[in-house]
Amino acid sequence: MADVLQDYRYLAEDQRLGVASMDDTHEEFLSLYEHLRQADNAAFPQLFRLMCEHTRAHFAAEEALMKATDFPALAEHTADHMRVLGELDRFLSRAQGGRQQLARAWINEQLPEWFRAHLLNMDSALAAHIVGREKPRHVHLRLLRD
Ligand SMILES: [Fe+2]
Repeated sequence: MADVLQDYRYLAEDQRLGVASMDDTHEEFLSLYEHLRQADNAAFPQLFRLMCEHTRAHFAAEEALMKATDFPALAEHTADHMRVLGELDRFLSRAQGGRQQLARAWINEQLPEWFRAHLLNMDSALAAHIVGREKPRHVHLRLLRD
């Protein structure tokens, strides 16, 4: 289990968002993803279930961050999470029912594309919002004086 989540070598430098909790979770997601992609038929359903559980917790953590920081695009971001969780649940049922082919195709082709696009658009916007809020107030005061 620990290796599945802690390979820590898949998140590219330009995928790091500068919010440690998000970067760590994305690193775990990609590590788990690589193990799932390479899993044999016997290990695949269990790893797929772990991917679903991890992703549910990953999204819940981001949604908690959005609420705590009054992120304006909360609804849109959460809707994208819900859509992917729906797909994960659908393909998990197939994989658990012994039908892995479509689940593997989705994992290989769709999920990486989704992750890249979601990270670039929605997660990076959330990270910028969080980092922006952490700026000290005097920065704004100085700007007002200029
Ligand atoms: Fe997200």
